[in-house]
Amino acid sequence: MNIIDLSLKSDVHIQQAAELLLDSFEHSWNTLEEAVLEVKASLESNRISRIAVNDQGDLIGWIAGIKQYDGNVWEMHPLVVKKSWQGKGIGRLLVKDFERKVLEEGGITVLLGTDDETNSTTLGGIDIYPDIYRNIENIRNLKNHPYEFYQKIGYKIVGIIPDANGYGRPDILMAKRVKV
Ligand SMILES: CC(C)(COP(=O)(O)OP(=O)(O)OC[C@H]1O[C@@H](n2cnc3c(N)ncnc32)[C@H](O)[C@@H]1OP(=O)(O)O)[C@@H](O)C(=O)NCCC(=O)NCCS
Repeated sequence: MNIIDLSLKSDVHIQQAAELLLDSFEHSWNTLEEAVLEVKASLESNRISRIAVNDQGDLIGWIAGIKQYDGNVWEMHPLVVKKSWQGKGIGRLLVKDFERKVLEEGGITVLLGTDDETNSTTLGGIDIYPDIYRNIENIRNLKNHPYEFYQKIGYKIVGIIPDANGYGRPDILMAKRVKV
C-alpha cells in the first residue's frame, strides 16, 4: 500500500475516488458525474488530496482537505476507505499522512465535521440545546459512528452544529493540534 498525491493526470484514480464517494455516502451525490466534480475540486490550490493505492495501483482510500483561517486550520473532507479495506489501519495511515502534509504547509490544527444523520450517537435524535455540554461530554457510540475512530487517533470533540442535517441530526466537530 502506498499513499500518493491524487493527480489530475490520473483519470483512473479520479474515477475510482468518485465511485468510492458514491458507494460510501449514498445521499450526498446523485450521479457519478457529480462525484467526479467533487473529486476534481479537491485538486484546486489551497487543498490537499491524497490517495491510498494497493499493490495493483488501484485506489483503496482517499483523504482531502481545505486550507482555512490563513492556513492555521485545515478542514479534512472527506476521508473514506473502501469497504473491503476497512479495519486494516488504512484510515489511520491516511490521517497521519494528511497531518504531515498540514504540518509541511505550516498548519496548526486539523478540523473535521462528522455528521450523525442516523441517530448513531447519543447526540442524534434529541434536542441538544437544554444540556449541550453535558451531552457532548457523555456521548456514546450507538451504531459504529466514526467519531470514535477519530478519538482513537487523537481528535477531540470541540463542538457541535445542532440540526445541521435536519432536526436532531447534528454535525459533530472534532479537532487536533498537529503542530506541537
Ligand atoms: C471511518 C473510516 C475512515 C476508518 O478507516 P479504517 O481504515 O477502517 O480505520 P482503521 O483500520 O485505521 O482504524 C483505526 C482504529 O479505529 C477503530 N475504528 C475504525 N472505525 C471505527 C468506527 N466506526 N467506530 C469505532 N472505532 C472505529 C478501529 O477499530 C481501530 O481501532 P484499534 O486501533 O483499537 O484497532 C472508514 O471506516 C470509512 O471510510 N468509513 C466510511 C466513510 C466515513 O464514515 N468516513 C468518515 C466520515 S467523517
